[in-house]
Amino acid sequence: DLYGAERRNSAGIDLADPVATAALADRMAAAAAARATAAPLVGGRPVDGATRSVVSPADNSVVVGHVADATAETVDAAIARATRAGPDWDTIAAAERAAILDRAADLYEADGPRLMALIVREGGRTVPDALSELREAVDFLRYYAARARSDFAVRRLPGPTGERNELRLAARGTFACISPWNFPLAIFTGQVAAALAAGNAVLAKPAEQTPLVGAAAIALLHRAGVPGDVLQFLPGDGATVGARLVADPRVSGIAFTGSTDTARAINRVLADRPGPIAPFIAETGGQNALIVDSSALPEQVVQDVLTSAFNSAGQRCSALRVLFVQADAADRTLTMLKGAMAELRIGDPALLSTDIGPVIDGEAQAMLQRHAQRMRREGRVVIEMQAPPGTERGSFFAPAAYEIDALDRLEGEVFGPILHVVRWQAGRLDQVIDAIRATGYGLTLGVHSRIDETVRQVISRVGVGNVYVNRNMVGAVVGVQPFGGEGLSGTGPKAGGPHYLPRFATERTLSVDT
Ligand code: NAD
Ligand code: ALA
Repeated sequence: DLYGAERRNSAGIDLADPVATAALADRMAAAAAARATAAPLVGGRPVDGATRSVVSPADNSVVVGHVADATAETVDAAIARATRAGPDWDTIAAAERAAILDRAADLYEADGPRLMALIVREGGRTVPDALSELREAVDFLRYYAARARSDFAVRRLPGPTGERNELRLAARGTFACISPWNFPLAIFTGQVAAALAAGNAVLAKPAEQTPLVGAAAIALLHRAGVPGDVLQFLPGDGATVGARLVADPRVSGIAFTGSTDTARAINRVLADRPGPIAPFIAETGGQNALIVDSSALPEQVVQDVLTSAFNSAGQRCSALRVLFVQADAADRTLTMLKGAMAELRIGDPALLSTDIGPVIDGEAQAMLQRHAQRMRREGRVVIEMQAPPGTERGSFFAPAAYEIDALDRLEGEVFGPILHVVRWQAGRLDQVIDAIRATGYGLTLGVHSRIDETVRQVISRVGVGNVYVNRNMVGAVVGVQPFGGEGLSGTGPKAGGPHYLPRFATERTLSVDT
């Protein structure tokens, strides 16, 4: 079944249930007491090397663990092993690979509190974010397992002249999976699970900011039965590890999620690389807008703006960046928004009461501070919140909103909890849509309107991967809202959708004269 109606998503834990939440908190606290470590894994064996400490973005004096990054020699050794191991992995039945991924999903769930504690401590994500990320990772594992069982079945085709014709998918060989820090478990796992499900050997590179979560995930995948030679783990930065993987012609495909600039850099290297032409799956940034007209329900708009722009401290590729509000509803909406923002609790992401945790590091914080300064000069401050005392030990940036006169004031994606607001005049919806199209991005878009014609016009004219009507714009669910953009936002296919796995594979036709 193409859309997997029989499959269930991970149930997670009800954070409104005090008994379940207390048990979760105990297990997360116990896990947090242990120092985590990460090292390259080549052929399933850790490779020793100089280590660096990984500090918590919520408090830079807290060392979460240590990581030994991969050297150029380690990357080369891992590629050599993966290249040798790929064909055997491709030869085993897709159902067997799927069973291993299903087993990994069970292990992730059983070890959920430990994974969540790491996501909170290393990634600075809040507890609800960590829980939804855990669920998404589990969903990816089970979804791609289910898809592998059906996508990799041999299809019999017509044989009009009496021959037997078959079409099947086969692995590409060796995939490099390069992921960002903002979903250190879910995106990391999703890429790796898809590449493995399709029969490829995998070289997994986590973001340099979040190697500890990646290492914990890899250990569970190995424990579930993925052979060490089939799944290599290569922590390190983009310039040393990422760039070396991309440049090596033995790496037959690249799955990348991250910024649009990095995707372009990878594309340039691939274009000049000797050897086979490698498929490149890139999921990149957005300049995501929400269009609100004066028929929309203001309370719902404000709630959905808060969730879309500021959840996860705005560090979701799907997050709302530009609110287009119809002029005659603007003052009322902004007044309500300011009131609602003032209630947001900024602070320690480990506390269940926290709404907004830190941004990932000092570099991200400085970028947001520079952008805020520019907005103060070129726009109008709607609200700038203040981070409470104690947060100066981490890289916090308090949510802010600025009004600007036009979308082209923005030079690209601003990755964090800053909302931009543009007023539009009745009768000018076309110009709003044109401005959004002109950004070239096409990841998420929201519409809040009770007028069917407005919604229809927006949906029919925007070139955006995920459109949300009268709801928030984040948290796409695997198999339910396949996720991914177009234009500057990515190449497709959509993660968590039925067309994802075939892009990690090649198609083979067999014709036999009978
Ligand atoms: P980034 O592009 O800086 O890094 C992403 C990954 O690429 C990291 O692992 C990094 O080490 C690696 N890398 C960097 N330079 C490289 C190179 N030259 N060659 C190979 N690899 C290289 O992005 P980030 O800051 O980690 O993540 C935030 C970005 O990710 C935002 O733009 C966000 O919108 C985007 N994102 C997109 C999606 C999506 O599904 N479309 C999801 C999450 C995040
Ligand atoms: N899939 C994530 C979301 O929808 C990025 O928010």
